[in-house]
Amino acid sequence: MPSEPKGRAGSLLVDNIGELVTNEAGAGEGGPLGLRRRVALLVEAGEVVWVGPAADAPAADRRIDADGAAVLPGFVDSHAHLVFAGDRGTEFAARMAGQPYTGGGIRTTVGATRSATDGQLRATVRRLHDEALRQGTTTIEIKSGYGLTVADEARSVRIAAEVTEETTFLGAHVVPTEYADRPDEYVGLVCGPMLAAAAPYARWIDVFCERGAFDADHARAILTCGQAAGLGVRVHANQLGPGPGVRLGVELGAASVDHCTHLDDADVDALAASEGSTVATLLPGAEFSTRSPYPDARRLLDAGVTVALATDCNPGSSYTSSMPFCVALAVREMRMTPAEAVWAATAGGARALRRTDVGVLRPGARADLMILDAPSHLHLAYRPGVPLIRQVLRNGVPR
Ligand code: NIG
Ligand code: FE
Repeated sequence: MPSEPKGRAGSLLVDNIGELVTNEAGAGEGGPLGLRRRVALLVEAGEVVWVGPAADAPAADRRIDADGAAVLPGFVDSHAHLVFAGDRGTEFAARMAGQPYTGGGIRTTVGATRSATDGQLRATVRRLHDEALRQGTTTIEIKSGYGLTVADEARSVRIAAEVTEETTFLGAHVVPTEYADRPDEYVGLVCGPMLAAAAPYARWIDVFCERGAFDADHARAILTCGQAAGLGVRVHANQLGPGPGVRLGVELGAASVDHCTHLDDADVDALAASEGSTVATLLPGAEFSTRSPYPDARRLLDAGVTVALATDCNPGSSYTSSMPFCVALAVREMRMTPAEAVWAATAGGARALRRTDVGVLRPGARADLMILDAPSHLHLAYRPGVPLIRQVLRNGVPR
């Protein structure tokens, strides 16, 4: 006689969870983290289908014993630049010896990226994507921006799209050297043939709105063209100094304005008035790696702004793929509580990408989660630099 099936076909039970971060306010303790204790979680066809007391756990085909550990939604890294070639370690060393960061090194990476083969770019994207996944990142946004020709930008977003659905066209990263005295012409190229070639592979458009990159008029022109092509808006804003980027982003309905290092009261008010529609994405890896003052997350949170944390992984200003490192920095340097930082790195990132299926663990959500080698989410900041990610599931599949 065939043996009885142990559970619904293909089901997987994550059992014996000591602390579950659901990110469903009201689902448990811990405010927005919605903490539940001694629970189990059932996954079918890549989705969470049940969460409840471990004592009531249903049978399943397979079981992972979390052994009392903490389980969190996978990190949502909503800002990364993984399509590049070359290395800027010596630039980093010079900064640590006192050189300021100006963004000038972007052109060094552009040169190396243009010279690279598709295979070389693909290998780097996959290496960094997998590195991030091992550290708990189950959703990652990837930008172009180191090609800055029609063909190089198109291949950058095309290669990014091989590993993520969250792809961003950043042809307006800087004005490339060959257009240095013709920035208007470059903006025309970005809005015209470059956007047309990149848009089929992109979900978002981004502009580096900063002194030395693109001013408000150019940024507005480019972002508006992107919107007309069906892309959502995000902006690199107020990284190196005060400027118009944050308010422009809010005005255009950006999903996120990123960096937010130098904000005045009007910027904070504009973000607060957007009521969470425009997220402030903070990138503490950039301040760490450029030895710059950190943004004041507390000021934003106290004003009611929705805050996300992301890595900004790139070879110049922040060569880290580690969301746990960013959580620890945000707690230690940006006046976030551990709970706020964990929320910002998971649910906050999801908001910044306008996603409701990730960054939460509830029935119907994607089964993207990590099991820690720790009893609580607190340990991500409490034990900085320690590899605490025991196991990662994406789409319900152990990675
Ligand atoms: O987000 N600020 C602009 N772009 C990147 C840095 C790029 C680089 O230095 O290569 C950033 O920090
Ligand atoms: Fe960036």
